[in-house]
This record gives sequence, C-alpha cells and structure tokens, in this order.
Amino acid sequence: MSAFATYPSLIDKVVLITGGASGIGASFVEHFARQGAKVGFLDLDQPGGERLAATLADAMHPPRFVPCDLSDPAALDRAVTEVRSAFGPIGVLINNAANDVRHQFADTTPAAFDQSVATNLRHQYFATQAVLADMQSLGGGSVICLGSTGWMRKNAGYPMYAMAKAAISGFVNGMARELGQQRIRINCLVPGWVITEKQQRLWLDEEGEAEIRRVQCMPGHLLPEDLARAALFLAADDSRMCTGQNFIVDGGWA
Ligand SMILES: NC(=O)c1ccc[n+]([C@@H]2O[C@H](COP(=O)([O-])OP(=O)(O)OC[C@H]3O[C@@H](n4cnc5c(N)ncnc54)[C@H](O)[C@@H]3O)[C@@H](O)[C@H]2O)c1
Repeated sequence: MSAFATYPSLIDKVVLITGGASGIGASFVEHFARQGAKVGFLDLDQPGGERLAATLADAMHPPRFVPCDLSDPAALDRAVTEVRSAFGPIGVLINNAANDVRHQFADTTPAAFDQSVATNLRHQYFATQAVLADMQSLGGGSVICLGSTGWMRKNAGYPMYAMAKAAISGFVNGMARELGQQRIRINCLVPGWVITEKQQRLWLDEEGEAEIRRVQCMPGHLLPEDLARAALFLAADDSRMCTGQNFIVDGGWA
C-alpha cells in the first residue's frame, strides 16, 4: 500500500496538464492517472509524450497525449477541444509548460521577448479561458498555475522567464475573486529547485549541490513527485477553500 494520500474526489475527474511529456509535468500526469483521473496532456515533445502515455496504458483511464505547440493559441484551442471530446468537461487545469532557457538582458530582441512570453505566460492565460465554460458547467474547478521561486529569490540569468513567472502570481491574484464566485479555485504552485532530468543534465553541478546543502533547510533533492503530491491536494476537494495563494514547495530555501 502507498504511504501517500489518495483522493476519492479525483477519481474520474478530467484533468488537463500542459507540458506533461517530461520533468515535473510528467510526474503530474503519472500521479493524476494513478489516482483514477482522466488525464489529457499537451506537449511539443511528441516522442516523449507518446512514451509516457504508453507507460500508463494500464491506468484506470489511460492518459491521452495531444501533441501541441502551446505558443500557438489556435493549436492550444484545438488540443483542449480534443481532450474535452475524449473525456468530457475539464474540471482541473494544470498550467505547467515553460522553458527556463538562460538568456542575456542586453541581447534580448522584441521577437525573443514575444516568444518567451508565449512559451512561459500567454498559454496559462488562454488555457484558463478555454476551460472556463467547462468548469462553470461542472459547478466549480481548480486551476493550478506553475510559478517559480527563481524571481522571488532574485536569481540572475533569465530575466524574461523571471518576469513571466512573476506575472503568473499576478494572474492568479487577479482572477481569484472572479473565479471564486463561481467556485473555481486558482492557485500558484511555486517550486524551488526541482531536480528533474533536464536540471541534472544542464545546470546541476558540484557548486549547485553545495548550494542546496547550504541554503535548503531540508537535506536532499526536491523531486518532481514532491510537486505532484502538492498538486493532487490543490486539485482535490480537500483544498476546497484554498484559492488565490502561492503554495511554495522548495524544501525551505533561505
Ligand atoms: N525544475 C525546476 O527547478 C523549476 C523551478 C521553478 C519552477 N519550475 C516550473 O515548473 C514547471 C515545470 O518545470 P520543469 O522543470 O519540469 O520544466 P521542463 O522544461 O523540464 O519541462 C517543461 C515541459 O514543457 C514542454 N514545453 C515547453 N514549451 C512548450 C510549448 N511551447 N508547447 C508545448 N509544450 C512545451 C516541454 O517540452 C517539457 O516537456 C515550469 O512551469 C517551470 O517554470 C520548475
């Protein structure tokens, strides 16, 4: 038996996850599918998405992968329609996709700026808009937007990403009252440094390991599943009066 919680309110719930093919998003897909939810997930990475869906083919409801470039609003709309047609009205949205690629402030062009906003911010807004009528028809729902402690900690090296992630907290605060009146909750799930395969490959070195030991209150790596378990709670009825918050899961980074 699992040592972790199961949530009866997630059984048969339709959950849409963006950027679900790898990293934290893949852990969301797996955890929600294992709770008996009907998971639709979108990603650019077609081979990765198909591989993940194949590993979950024995779930109560095998997840449905829809290849999609979320920076294209029309493609996002088509993908949401496909998930809805497969499973019914969407009750949980996890706005997860992003790209924390490093960049220099001095080199930023307007085109690169627009691309970064499209990758890291705009789809969160329009995916939320796309599922609004579904959640209204269900009498409520939960939107979980992935933020970041990166901008809160004043990290250098990704100013456009930091700006987009800060704006997500603003979006959540700006929507919580309007959505709350309709029993739709919206929260920002804020990861610290989560050691995904990509982080390990690109950024985690000896200096990073030393920083984790020095700055994180808890020893060891923060993992995708630590975020997934928080997302299960925020999606389930157990958190029914939680909205408009930043939920930080960072192992105590101070
Ligand atoms: N890993 C961390 O330490 C960390 C820290 C703070 C915040 N976060 C946030 O958590 C979320 C997940 O992080 P991660 O580390 O797993 O990210 P990741 O870069 O490893 O994975 C993101 C996923 O989104 C997909 N994606 C990117 N652009 C897309 C697009 N235009 N269309 C469709 N799919 C697209 C990628 O293919 C990938 O599967 C992100 O919102 C990120 O900003 C992560």
